[in-house]
Amino acid sequence: MARVYLNGRFLPREEAFLSVDDRGFLFGDGIYEVTAAYRGRLMRWPRHLARVEKGLKALRIDYDPSELEAVHYQLLRENGLEGAPVSYVYLQITRGAAPRTHQFPSTPVPPTVYLFAGEYQRPPRERWEQGFRAVTVPDQRWARVDIKTVQLLPNVLAKQAAVDRGADEVIFVKDGLAIEGALNNFFVVFGRTVVTHPCSNQILAGITREVVLELCGRLGFPVEERPIPVEEMFQADEAFHTGTLTEVKPCVEVDGRPIGTGKVGPVTRALFDAFLEEAEGVARGG
Ligand code: PDD
Repeated sequence: MARVYLNGRFLPREEAFLSVDDRGFLFGDGIYEVTAAYRGRLMRWPRHLARVEKGLKALRIDYDPSELEAVHYQLLRENGLEGAPVSYVYLQITRGAAPRTHQFPSTPVPPTVYLFAGEYQRPPRERWEQGFRAVTVPDQRWARVDIKTVQLLPNVLAKQAAVDRGADEVIFVKDGLAIEGALNNFFVVFGRTVVTHPCSNQILAGITREVVLELCGRLGFPVEERPIPVEEMFQADEAFHTGTLTEVKPCVEVDGRPIGTGKVGPVTRALFDAFLEEAEGVARGG
């Protein structure tokens, strides 16, 4: 039976309840985080913690998240996920429950802190080797998507649009530029050069994105962090998405048009293999 963490207690999922006054429910007034674990070890926890701290500061939620690493590990243990090849922990912190007013509660209330964990099934390599399809969706999100808030309605609708069109992933397009996915970052490749949108308020600065850029350095692939015009995207040799649980996911078709040869390319494959090695290192405690 799944166990979750809610406001200081570990308990069965069935026994975890929130107030209907929770501002996460009423306003989407909160942040979240998803961290991958390989054989029960968190990948890049300090980077995830830094993003949580940034989000709490941006929303002015008064909460010290420094104890959360221990909560993540205990939750993995309580769910028997220490040995799982790939699992994840979801964390959400909202401003808490208070009578509904748009402004912050006049008397501060404790934030709601909720975590759950689950196992992740990586697609079999044969499936990965076929590549994945994406659709472009107008990016109508707010102007601070660099904060990982729980307000994900545009992302939900975009991902559903992809599913409705028989595709796997999304590419948000704004002002003619390929921005990022609905739950991942987006890259294109020209020859050996790897290109991705720069970090700004327009994208979530993905931790997997950061890992992949490091791997590009190790593998000797030149990197350009710059906006990607959509017409240029269609001229790319390769494209891929990156994210927690997305890992490195080849994108071989966008809006029904092939990218490059329409097959998974060598740079994407090399980066995925290097990512899997990195994950192995995490699993071994490296
Ligand atoms: N999504 N861009 C968006 C819009 C995201 O929601 C995410 C993560 C990323 C990739 O960030 P990272 O590499 O740090 O996971 C980029 C999480 C996993 C989710 O919503 O489930």
